[in-house]
Amino acid sequence: MINGKSVAVCAAFALGALSCGKTESTPAHKPMVSNVTKQSFGQTTDAQAIDLYILKNANGVEASIMNYGATLVSLKAPDKAGAVADVVLGFDSLDGYLKPEPYFGAIVGRYGNRIAKGRFTLDGVTYKLAVNNGENHLHGGIKGFDKVLWTARAIDSPTKPGVELKYLSKDGEEGYPGNLNVTVTYTLSPANELQIDYLATTDKDTVLNLTNHTYFNLSGGAAPDILGHELMINAERFTPVDAGLIPAGELRPVEGTPFDFRQPVAIGARIGASDEQLKRGKGYDHNFIVKRTGPGLELVARAVDPASGRVLEVLSTQPAVQFYSGNFLDGTLAGKGGRIIGHRSGFCLETQHYPDSPNHPAFPTVVLKPGETYSQSTVFRLAAR
Ligand code: GLA
Repeated sequence: MINGKSVAVCAAFALGALSCGKTESTPAHKPMVSNVTKQSFGQTTDAQAIDLYILKNANGVEASIMNYGATLVSLKAPDKAGAVADVVLGFDSLDGYLKPEPYFGAIVGRYGNRIAKGRFTLDGVTYKLAVNNGENHLHGGIKGFDKVLWTARAIDSPTKPGVELKYLSKDGEEGYPGNLNVTVTYTLSPANELQIDYLATTDKDTVLNLTNHTYFNLSGGAAPDILGHELMINAERFTPVDAGLIPAGELRPVEGTPFDFRQPVAIGARIGASDEQLKRGKGYDHNFIVKRTGPGLELVARAVDPASGRVLEVLSTQPAVQFYSGNFLDGTLAGKGGRIIGHRSGFCLETQHYPDSPNHPAFPTVVLKPGETYSQSTVFRLAAR
Protein backbone atom coordinates (compact mmCIF):
# COMPACT_ATOMS: atom_id res chain seq x y z
CA MET A 1 0.00 0.00 0.00
CA ILE A 2 2.70 2.44 1.09
CA ASN A 3 4.86 1.38 -1.83
CA GLY A 4 2.02 1.74 -4.25
CA LYS A 5 1.35 5.25 -3.00
CA SER A 6 4.93 6.42 -3.24
CA VAL A 7 5.21 5.12 -6.81
CA ALA A 8 2.12 7.04 -7.78
CA VAL A 9 3.41 10.23 -6.18
CA CYS A 10 6.67 9.90 -8.12
CA ALA A 11 4.61 9.58 -11.27
CA ALA A 12 2.91 12.86 -10.42
CA PHE A 13 6.30 14.56 -10.06
CA ALA A 14 7.48 13.07 -13.34
CA LEU A 15 4.53 14.80 -14.92
CA GLY A 16 5.08 18.11 -13.12
CA ALA A 17 6.08 20.15 -16.15
CA LEU A 18 3.01 19.03 -18.03
CA SER A 19 0.32 19.72 -15.54
CA CYS A 20 1.57 22.90 -13.88
CA GLY A 21 -1.95 24.31 -13.60
CA LYS A 22 -3.26 21.29 -11.78
CA THR A 23 -0.17 20.88 -9.64
CA GLU A 24 -0.39 24.51 -8.47
CA SER A 25 -4.01 24.20 -7.48
CA THR A 26 -3.30 21.00 -5.51
CA PRO A 27 -2.50 21.66 -1.83
CA ALA A 28 1.18 20.97 -1.11
CA HIS A 29 0.42 18.44 1.61
CA LYS A 30 -1.73 16.35 -0.73
CA PRO A 31 0.15 15.68 -3.96
CA MET A 32 -1.87 14.76 -7.04
CA VAL A 33 -1.72 11.01 -7.61
CA SER A 34 -1.21 10.22 -11.23
CA ASN A 35 -1.02 7.17 -13.43
CA VAL A 36 0.29 8.94 -16.48
CA THR A 37 3.94 9.68 -17.16
CA LYS A 38 5.70 11.36 -20.04
CA GLN A 39 9.10 10.44 -21.42
CA SER A 40 11.15 11.33 -24.46
CA PHE A 41 10.82 9.01 -27.45
CA GLY A 42 13.45 10.74 -29.58
CA GLN A 43 13.38 13.29 -32.37
CA THR A 44 12.12 13.41 -35.94
CA THR A 45 14.61 14.16 -38.73
CA ASP A 46 13.55 17.83 -38.56
CA ALA A 47 14.35 17.92 -34.81
CA GLN A 48 10.79 17.76 -33.48
CA ALA A 49 10.68 16.26 -29.99
CA ILE A 50 8.57 13.12 -29.76
CA ASP A 51 7.13 12.09 -26.42
CA LEU A 52 5.66 8.91 -25.10
CA TYR A 53 2.72 9.09 -22.68
CA ILE A 54 2.43 5.99 -20.53
CA LEU A 55 -0.96 5.23 -18.97
CA LYS A 56 -1.12 2.60 -16.24
CA ASN A 57 -3.80 0.99 -14.13
CA ALA A 58 -3.63 -1.12 -10.99
CA ASN A 59 -4.02 -4.43 -12.90
CA GLY A 60 -0.75 -4.19 -14.79
CA VAL A 61 -2.28 -2.87 -18.00
CA GLU A 62 -0.12 -0.20 -19.58
CA ALA A 63 -0.68 1.77 -22.80
CA SER A 64 2.02 3.93 -24.38
CA ILE A 65 1.01 6.56 -26.90
CA MET A 66 3.27 8.96 -28.79
CA ASN A 67 2.48 12.34 -30.30
CA TYR A 68 3.85 11.30 -33.73
CA GLY A 69 0.80 9.90 -35.54
CA ALA A 70 -1.08 9.79 -32.18
CA THR A 71 0.21 6.22 -32.25
CA LEU A 72 -0.43 3.43 -29.77
CA VAL A 73 3.15 2.19 -29.44
CA SER A 74 2.60 -0.55 -26.89
CA LEU A 75 -0.21 -2.14 -24.93
CA LYS A 76 0.79 -4.45 -22.13
CA ALA A 77 -1.69 -6.85 -20.59
CA PRO A 78 -1.58 -9.88 -18.29
CA ASP A 79 -2.35 -13.41 -19.49
CA LYS A 80 -4.33 -15.99 -17.51
CA ALA A 81 -1.29 -16.67 -15.27
CA GLY A 82 -0.72 -12.95 -14.71
CA ALA A 83 2.28 -12.69 -17.06
CA VAL A 84 2.32 -9.27 -18.70
CA ALA A 85 3.27 -8.94 -22.38
CA ASP A 86 2.93 -6.39 -25.16
CA VAL A 87 0.00 -7.37 -27.38
CA VAL A 88 0.46 -4.89 -30.25
CA LEU A 89 2.98 -4.78 -33.11
CA GLY A 90 5.39 -1.91 -33.56
CA PHE A 91 8.91 -0.81 -32.76
CA ASP A 92 10.99 -0.17 -29.65
CA SER A 93 12.16 3.22 -30.88
CA LEU A 94 10.92 6.10 -32.99
CA ASP A 95 13.23 5.18 -35.84
CA GLY A 96 11.05 2.31 -37.02
CA TYR A 97 8.01 4.59 -37.21
CA LEU A 98 9.80 7.19 -39.35
CA LYS A 99 10.59 4.66 -42.10
CA PRO A 100 7.90 3.17 -44.38
CA GLU A 101 5.72 0.92 -42.22
CA PRO A 102 2.09 -0.23 -42.41
CA TYR A 103 0.44 2.21 -39.96
CA PHE A 104 1.37 0.29 -36.77
CA GLY A 105 -0.88 1.62 -33.98
CA ALA A 106 -1.48 4.95 -35.73
CA ILE A 107 -4.51 7.17 -35.99
CA VAL A 108 -5.49 7.12 -39.64
CA GLY A 109 -7.18 10.02 -41.42
CA ARG A 110 -8.68 12.06 -42.87
CA TYR A 111 -10.13 9.03 -44.55
CA GLY A 112 -9.21 5.63 -43.19
CA ASN A 113 -9.47 2.98 -45.92
CA ARG A 114 -9.83 3.58 -49.65
CA ILE A 115 -11.43 6.21 -51.86
CA ALA A 116 -11.72 4.97 -55.45
CA LYS A 117 -9.34 6.68 -57.87
CA GLY A 118 -8.64 9.30 -55.18
CA ARG A 119 -11.64 11.31 -56.25
CA PHE A 120 -15.03 12.34 -54.88
CA THR A 121 -17.62 15.03 -55.51
CA LEU A 122 -19.10 17.10 -52.70
CA ASP A 123 -21.53 20.02 -53.18
CA GLY A 124 -20.89 19.82 -56.93
CA VAL A 125 -17.10 20.20 -56.59
CA THR A 126 -14.82 17.30 -57.52
CA TYR A 127 -11.87 16.90 -55.17
CA LYS A 128 -8.69 15.14 -56.24
CA LEU A 129 -6.75 13.32 -53.54
CA ALA A 130 -3.34 11.67 -53.54
CA VAL A 131 -3.35 8.27 -55.22
CA ASN A 132 -1.12 6.06 -53.07
CA ASN A 133 -2.57 2.55 -53.38
CA GLY A 134 -2.70 1.34 -56.98
CA GLU A 135 -5.12 3.75 -58.60
CA ASN A 136 -6.82 4.52 -55.27
CA HIS A 137 -6.40 6.76 -52.24
CA LEU A 138 -5.59 4.96 -48.97
CA HIS A 139 -5.51 6.08 -45.33
CA GLY A 140 -5.47 9.84 -45.88
CA GLY A 141 -2.78 10.02 -48.57
CA ILE A 142 0.98 10.48 -48.71
CA LYS A 143 1.23 12.31 -45.41
CA GLY A 144 -1.81 11.21 -43.48
CA PHE A 145 -2.59 11.75 -39.80
CA ASP A 146 -0.28 8.83 -38.99
CA LYS A 147 2.74 10.88 -40.11
CA VAL A 148 2.04 14.23 -38.47
CA LEU A 149 2.93 15.66 -35.11
CA TRP A 150 -0.02 16.07 -32.75
CA THR A 151 -0.12 18.46 -29.79
CA ALA A 152 -0.40 16.29 -26.71
CA ARG A 153 -1.55 16.95 -23.15
CA ALA A 154 -1.54 14.42 -20.34
CA ILE A 155 -4.82 13.86 -18.52
CA ASP A 156 -3.78 13.49 -14.95
CA SER A 157 -6.08 11.15 -13.07
CA PRO A 158 -5.53 8.36 -10.56
CA THR A 159 -8.35 6.25 -11.99
CA LYS A 160 -8.69 7.30 -15.64
CA PRO A 161 -5.32 8.48 -16.89
CA GLY A 162 -5.23 9.66 -20.47
CA VAL A 163 -3.63 11.68 -23.19
CA GLU A 164 -5.39 14.19 -25.40
CA LEU A 165 -3.93 14.79 -28.88
CA LYS A 166 -4.90 17.63 -31.18
CA TYR A 167 -4.19 18.28 -34.84
CA LEU A 168 -5.30 20.99 -37.27
CA SER A 169 -5.50 19.64 -40.79
CA LYS A 170 -5.43 22.69 -43.05
CA ASP A 171 -7.84 23.36 -45.89
CA GLY A 172 -6.49 21.51 -48.95
CA GLU A 173 -4.19 19.15 -47.03
CA GLU A 174 -3.80 15.97 -49.09
CA GLY A 175 -6.57 17.40 -51.31
CA TYR A 176 -9.35 17.50 -48.69
CA PRO A 177 -11.54 20.59 -48.24
CA GLY A 178 -11.89 22.57 -45.00
CA ASN A 179 -9.76 23.35 -41.99
CA LEU A 180 -10.38 20.34 -39.79
CA ASN A 181 -9.73 20.44 -36.05
CA VAL A 182 -9.29 16.94 -34.67
CA THR A 183 -9.00 15.80 -31.06
CA VAL A 184 -8.20 12.20 -30.20
CA THR A 185 -8.19 11.15 -26.55
CA TYR A 186 -6.93 7.85 -25.18
CA THR A 187 -7.99 6.91 -21.63
CA LEU A 188 -7.32 3.77 -19.62
CA SER A 189 -9.97 2.58 -17.17
CA PRO A 190 -9.62 0.45 -14.02
CA ALA A 191 -11.57 -2.22 -15.96
CA ASN A 192 -8.71 -2.62 -18.49
CA GLU A 193 -10.44 -0.61 -21.20
CA LEU A 194 -8.39 1.59 -23.47
CA GLN A 195 -10.92 4.02 -24.89
CA ILE A 196 -10.25 6.22 -27.92
CA ASP A 197 -12.56 9.21 -28.36
CA TYR A 198 -12.52 11.13 -31.63
CA LEU A 199 -13.90 14.66 -32.05
CA ALA A 200 -13.65 16.91 -35.11
CA THR A 201 -15.06 20.14 -36.50
CA THR A 202 -14.63 21.81 -39.88
CA ASP A 203 -15.13 25.26 -41.45
CA LYS A 204 -16.17 23.82 -44.85
CA ASP A 205 -18.09 20.70 -45.90
CA THR A 206 -15.66 17.79 -45.92
CA VAL A 207 -15.46 14.00 -45.61
CA LEU A 208 -13.97 12.18 -42.67
CA ASN A 209 -13.36 8.60 -41.53
CA LEU A 210 -11.01 8.30 -38.56
CA THR A 211 -9.75 5.03 -37.17
CA ASN A 212 -6.90 3.44 -35.24
CA HIS A 213 -4.64 0.98 -37.04
CA THR A 214 -3.35 -1.19 -34.19
CA TYR A 215 -2.14 -4.70 -35.06
CA PHE A 216 -2.90 -7.12 -32.23
CA ASN A 217 -1.17 -10.37 -31.38
CA LEU A 218 -2.60 -11.42 -28.04
CA SER A 219 0.10 -14.05 -27.54
CA GLY A 220 2.49 -11.17 -26.92
CA GLY A 221 4.85 -12.48 -29.57
CA ALA A 222 4.82 -16.11 -28.38
CA ALA A 223 2.95 -17.21 -31.52
CA PRO A 224 4.45 -16.26 -34.88
CA ASP A 225 1.06 -15.56 -36.44
CA ILE A 226 -2.52 -14.85 -35.41
CA LEU A 227 -4.14 -17.73 -37.30
CA GLY A 228 -4.90 -19.59 -34.04
CA HIS A 229 -6.71 -16.62 -32.48
CA GLU A 230 -10.45 -17.22 -32.24
CA LEU A 231 -12.47 -14.33 -33.55
CA MET A 232 -16.09 -13.30 -33.25
CA ILE A 233 -17.35 -10.39 -35.35
CA ASN A 234 -20.81 -9.06 -34.63
CA ALA A 235 -21.76 -8.66 -38.28
CA GLU A 236 -24.36 -10.25 -40.54
CA ARG A 237 -23.14 -8.51 -43.67
CA PHE A 238 -19.92 -7.29 -45.26
CA THR A 239 -19.00 -5.18 -48.27
CA PRO A 240 -17.49 -7.36 -51.03
CA VAL A 241 -14.66 -5.67 -52.94
CA ASP A 242 -13.21 -5.50 -56.44
CA ALA A 243 -9.56 -6.24 -57.29
CA GLY A 244 -8.51 -2.83 -55.91
CA LEU A 245 -10.35 -3.56 -52.62
CA ILE A 246 -13.08 -1.02 -53.42
CA PRO A 247 -16.67 -2.05 -52.53
CA ALA A 248 -19.10 -2.17 -55.42
CA GLY A 249 -22.00 -1.16 -53.18
CA GLU A 250 -23.40 -4.58 -52.35
CA LEU A 251 -23.99 -5.56 -48.70
CA ARG A 252 -23.53 -9.33 -48.76
CA PRO A 253 -24.76 -11.69 -46.02
CA VAL A 254 -21.88 -13.48 -44.29
CA GLU A 255 -23.99 -16.61 -43.90
CA GLY A 256 -22.50 -19.62 -45.68
CA THR A 257 -19.23 -17.77 -46.45
CA PRO A 258 -15.76 -17.72 -44.82
CA PHE A 259 -16.79 -14.24 -43.58
CA ASP A 260 -19.23 -15.64 -41.05
CA PHE A 261 -17.63 -14.88 -37.68
CA ARG A 262 -20.90 -14.60 -35.77
CA GLN A 263 -19.76 -17.63 -33.77
CA PRO A 264 -16.12 -17.63 -32.69
CA VAL A 265 -13.84 -19.34 -35.19
CA ALA A 266 -10.06 -19.45 -35.62
CA ILE A 267 -8.85 -16.74 -38.02
CA GLY A 268 -6.90 -19.41 -39.89
CA ALA A 269 -9.74 -21.93 -40.15
CA ARG A 270 -11.01 -20.76 -43.54
CA ILE A 271 -8.45 -18.16 -44.65
CA GLY A 272 -7.07 -20.54 -47.30
CA ALA A 273 -10.50 -21.48 -48.68
CA SER A 274 -11.03 -21.11 -52.38
CA ASP A 275 -13.11 -17.95 -52.28
CA GLU A 276 -13.01 -15.02 -54.68
CA GLN A 277 -13.22 -12.41 -51.90
CA LEU A 278 -10.43 -14.00 -49.86
CA LYS A 279 -8.33 -14.17 -53.02
CA ARG A 280 -8.85 -10.44 -53.65
CA GLY A 281 -7.98 -9.50 -50.08
CA LYS A 282 -5.04 -11.96 -49.98
CA GLY A 283 -6.86 -13.10 -46.85
CA TYR A 284 -9.25 -11.01 -44.77
CA ASP A 285 -9.15 -7.30 -45.61
CA HIS A 286 -12.84 -6.50 -45.58
CA ASN A 287 -15.37 -4.19 -44.04
CA PHE A 288 -17.96 -5.83 -41.80
CA ILE A 289 -21.17 -4.01 -40.92
CA VAL A 290 -21.81 -4.00 -37.20
CA LYS A 291 -25.15 -5.43 -36.09
CA ARG A 292 -26.46 -2.69 -33.84
CA THR A 293 -28.97 -2.79 -31.03
CA GLY A 294 -29.03 1.01 -30.82
CA PRO A 295 -26.77 4.03 -30.92
CA GLY A 296 -23.75 4.21 -28.63
CA LEU A 297 -21.02 1.69 -27.91
CA GLU A 298 -21.82 -1.72 -29.39
CA LEU A 299 -19.78 -4.91 -29.13
CA VAL A 300 -18.02 -5.17 -32.50
CA ALA A 301 -15.68 -8.11 -32.08
CA ARG A 302 -14.02 -10.44 -29.58
CA ALA A 303 -10.66 -12.11 -30.15
CA VAL A 304 -9.21 -14.82 -27.91
CA ASP A 305 -5.74 -16.30 -27.89
CA PRO A 306 -6.47 -19.76 -26.44
CA ALA A 307 -2.86 -20.40 -25.32
CA SER A 308 -2.37 -17.25 -23.22
CA GLY A 309 -6.06 -16.84 -22.42
CA ARG A 310 -5.90 -13.15 -23.35
CA VAL A 311 -9.15 -11.71 -24.64
CA LEU A 312 -9.71 -8.51 -26.58
CA GLU A 313 -13.17 -7.03 -26.93
CA VAL A 314 -13.72 -4.16 -29.32
CA LEU A 315 -16.70 -1.87 -28.74
CA SER A 316 -17.51 1.12 -30.89
CA THR A 317 -19.99 3.76 -31.94
CA GLN A 318 -18.87 3.25 -35.56
CA PRO A 319 -21.10 1.52 -38.11
CA ALA A 320 -18.45 -0.93 -39.39
CA VAL A 321 -15.07 -2.53 -38.86
CA GLN A 322 -12.28 -3.40 -41.29
CA PHE A 323 -10.95 -6.81 -40.31
CA TYR A 324 -7.45 -7.07 -41.76
CA SER A 325 -5.46 -10.26 -41.16
CA GLY A 326 -2.02 -8.72 -41.73
CA ASN A 327 -1.73 -10.14 -45.25
CA PHE A 328 0.82 -7.57 -46.42
CA LEU A 329 3.18 -8.21 -43.51
CA ASP A 330 5.98 -10.07 -45.24
CA GLY A 331 8.87 -10.48 -42.80
CA THR A 332 10.90 -7.57 -44.16
CA LEU A 333 10.54 -5.45 -40.99
CA ALA A 334 12.12 -6.16 -37.61
CA GLY A 335 9.92 -5.01 -34.74
CA LYS A 336 10.10 -4.96 -30.97
CA GLY A 337 13.02 -6.89 -29.51
CA GLY A 338 14.41 -7.25 -33.05
CA ARG A 339 11.77 -9.88 -33.85
CA ILE A 340 10.83 -10.24 -37.51
CA ILE A 341 7.28 -9.07 -38.20
CA GLY A 342 6.10 -12.10 -40.14
CA HIS A 343 3.21 -12.74 -42.48
CA ARG A 344 -0.08 -12.42 -40.57
CA SER A 345 1.70 -11.87 -37.26
CA GLY A 346 -0.92 -9.30 -36.29
CA PHE A 347 -4.55 -8.50 -37.08
CA CYS A 348 -6.40 -5.19 -37.14
CA LEU A 349 -9.97 -4.38 -36.19
CA GLU A 350 -10.29 -0.87 -37.62
CA THR A 351 -13.63 0.52 -36.50
CA GLN A 352 -14.85 2.93 -39.15
CA HIS A 353 -17.36 3.86 -41.85
CA TYR A 354 -17.54 1.82 -45.05
CA PRO A 355 -14.69 2.19 -47.56
CA ASP A 356 -15.22 4.62 -50.44
CA SER A 357 -18.37 6.06 -48.82
CA PRO A 358 -17.92 9.49 -50.48
CA ASN A 359 -18.68 7.72 -53.80
CA HIS A 360 -21.61 5.67 -52.47
CA PRO A 361 -24.61 7.82 -51.59
CA ALA A 362 -26.41 4.72 -50.27
CA PHE A 363 -23.72 4.14 -47.58
CA PRO A 364 -24.04 6.00 -44.24
CA THR A 365 -22.77 9.53 -44.78
CA VAL A 366 -19.20 10.57 -43.96
CA VAL A 367 -19.84 14.25 -44.67
CA LEU A 368 -19.04 16.71 -41.89
CA LYS A 369 -20.41 20.25 -42.13
CA PRO A 370 -19.53 23.47 -40.33
CA GLY A 371 -21.43 23.67 -37.04
CA GLU A 372 -21.51 19.88 -36.63
CA THR A 373 -19.23 17.86 -34.35
CA TYR A 374 -17.89 14.52 -35.50
CA SER A 375 -17.88 12.23 -32.47
CA GLN A 376 -16.91 8.56 -32.38
CA SER A 377 -15.55 6.26 -29.70
CA THR A 378 -13.87 2.87 -29.70
CA VAL A 379 -12.90 0.73 -26.72
CA PHE A 380 -10.26 -2.00 -26.62
CA ARG A 381 -11.19 -4.04 -23.53
CA LEU A 382 -8.62 -6.55 -22.30
CA ALA A 383 -9.18 -9.61 -20.13
CA ALA A 384 -7.74 -13.07 -19.52
CA ARG A 385 -9.47 -16.37 -18.88
C1 GLA B 1 -5.65 -1.51 -44.16
C2 GLA B 1 -5.97 -1.88 -45.55
C3 GLA B 1 -5.03 -2.91 -46.02
C4 GLA B 1 -3.61 -2.41 -45.90
C5 GLA B 1 -3.32 -2.03 -44.50
C6 GLA B 1 -1.97 -1.44 -44.36
O1 GLA B 1 -6.05 -2.44 -43.27
O2 GLA B 1 -7.30 -2.28 -45.72
O3 GLA B 1 -5.31 -3.25 -47.34
O4 GLA B 1 -3.45 -1.31 -46.72
O5 GLA B 1 -4.29 -1.14 -44.04
O6 GLA B 1 -0.97 -2.22 -44.93
